[in-house]
Amino acid sequence: MEQTVNKRDWYKKMSFYQIWIRSFADGNGDGIGDLYGVYDKLPYIKSLGVDGIWFSPIYPSPNADFGYDISDYKDIHPDYGDLDQFKKVLDKAHEMGLKVIMDLVINHTSDEHPWFLESKKGRDNPYSDYYIWRDKPNNWDSLFEGEAWEYVKERDQYYLHIFAKKQPDLNMDNPKVRQEVKDIMRFWLDMGVDGFREDVINFISKKEGLPNGLFFLPAAKGMSHYKDGPHIHEYLSEFRKVCDEYDCFQLGEGPMTTVKSAMNYLTGPTKSLDMMFSFDHMMADCLYTEYIHRPFSLVKLKKAFTKWQKALDGKGWNALYMENHDHPRIISRYGSEHFHRESGTMLAACYLFQQGTPFIYQGQEIGMTNIKLMSIDQYVDVSSITNYYTYHLKEDPERRLHRIHLSSRDSARTPVQWDDSENAGFSKAKPWFYVNPNYKKINVAKEEKDPDSILNFYRKCLALRKRSDTLIYGSYNEFFPKDPNIFMYERCLENESYLIICSFSRLPVKPKKPEKYKGMHGELILCNYKETGRFLKPFETRVYRYKNT
Ligand code: GLC
Ligand code: CA
Repeated sequence: MEQTVNKRDWYKKMSFYQIWIRSFADGNGDGIGDLYGVYDKLPYIKSLGVDGIWFSPIYPSPNADFGYDISDYKDIHPDYGDLDQFKKVLDKAHEMGLKVIMDLVINHTSDEHPWFLESKKGRDNPYSDYYIWRDKPNNWDSLFEGEAWEYVKERDQYYLHIFAKKQPDLNMDNPKVRQEVKDIMRFWLDMGVDGFREDVINFISKKEGLPNGLFFLPAAKGMSHYKDGPHIHEYLSEFRKVCDEYDCFQLGEGPMTTVKSAMNYLTGPTKSLDMMFSFDHMMADCLYTEYIHRPFSLVKLKKAFTKWQKALDGKGWNALYMENHDHPRIISRYGSEHFHRESGTMLAACYLFQQGTPFIYQGQEIGMTNIKLMSIDQYVDVSSITNYYTYHLKEDPERRLHRIHLSSRDSARTPVQWDDSENAGFSKAKPWFYVNPNYKKINVAKEEKDPDSILNFYRKCLALRKRSDTLIYGSYNEFFPKDPNIFMYERCLENESYLIICSFSRLPVKPKKPEKYKGMHGELILCNYKETGRFLKPFETRVYRYKNT
């Protein structure tokens, strides 16, 4: 068995809360979330029972991709505060026992970053080779905005952008660029941060010569030439060395990564990351709803979960998530807005008890849902807008807007609903983006008061997980994988096991008892209904504990 115990092991017992700051809490009354708001809400975050915070980018950025287009890696966006305020938040978080990890976005910068402004001036300045320039484009697609190449007159050349036009890809083959990355890492680690979530990290090494790509997925022609590219492990091991000087961890985002390639990052001699965000379980319905419409399939979701749980057990470590700033809200997606509380609580149990480190995205813990804006002009996410104007053009606009309602990243980016006052308590001023009109029904203040709320259920789950080595380290097994309504899995360690039962059905369903538990009596530890019967009620979830299994 591979060696997995090392000094960074502390992250295995933890759970994290993700902050997408612009919509989290406005502390200075200008309608934009900021670090003053975060400071005020630290006790709330702590009260959830999480152990750390992941900040989506809070650096200066023109916001073409809301922070994922960085124009200065070593500062704070003035909308959000400044370095002093960040330090205050960091110190306070540490004092409260919360770790803090930063988003490290190094596949690309903003086109307004000074490196790019220099680079585009000509072919012979110190920054000329910081980006990927060619005389002629190849056939690659960008994931966000048409072709992957953009012409620049000053150089009479094209630059590569795998994401939006305003996100030119860095040339990681240039050792000076890698040195910059290491400097950035040191800058934040020296300040005291505890690690990084590394954005699209499996894309940073491109195949030599940038050959034409084959069709892979819509909008992803070329991906096979930059996903898990030729020098990726070499480059990551350079970054790893920096991290090894500190007690921190690295979590890589790995779009479209397979279990097999993830193992190369997470284990073995090349082990360069501690955890990865994988995407398989995001494909159970509509990751690409805009152009491939698939109704949600529980069987697919379970298959993806189980594949990763099994493959990594004893070898690597999973990062568990259901929501983040890139995906629609899970109640709208896999649950039911009608059975809001029931499905919101069940969806918590369905992933928080798997093996791995859970991440909870702001608003998920109160069951925020997708927003349905009236017109595409109200959306601000670059990929939603591109998709609307690119796919299914023959359909009527309403149908196309419906696809956006199902899939837009903007649904995860509406202001957090703190209470039922104006602007949902997010800000005294008009918020920068639309508040979901359901804030009077769904908000933190209301759920605080209700012992059975989604919010309090998250607290119970996290507390239970924290108390139990079985739920942290135990092995994972799934039962009845083909059942289209029920997700059932166990976690076992020594003579104890937990059985987690989750109904994804709107109708009552009768669960089967796994062979090994027949004749055994389990203690009901957690349930999202007051009474249990032989049938599972809509979206019911139960957690049983068994001894001497
Ligand atoms: C990651 C981020 C996403 C961003 C993209 C490009 O997938 O999570 O928000 O748009 O990378 O940086
Ligand atoms: Ca503000």
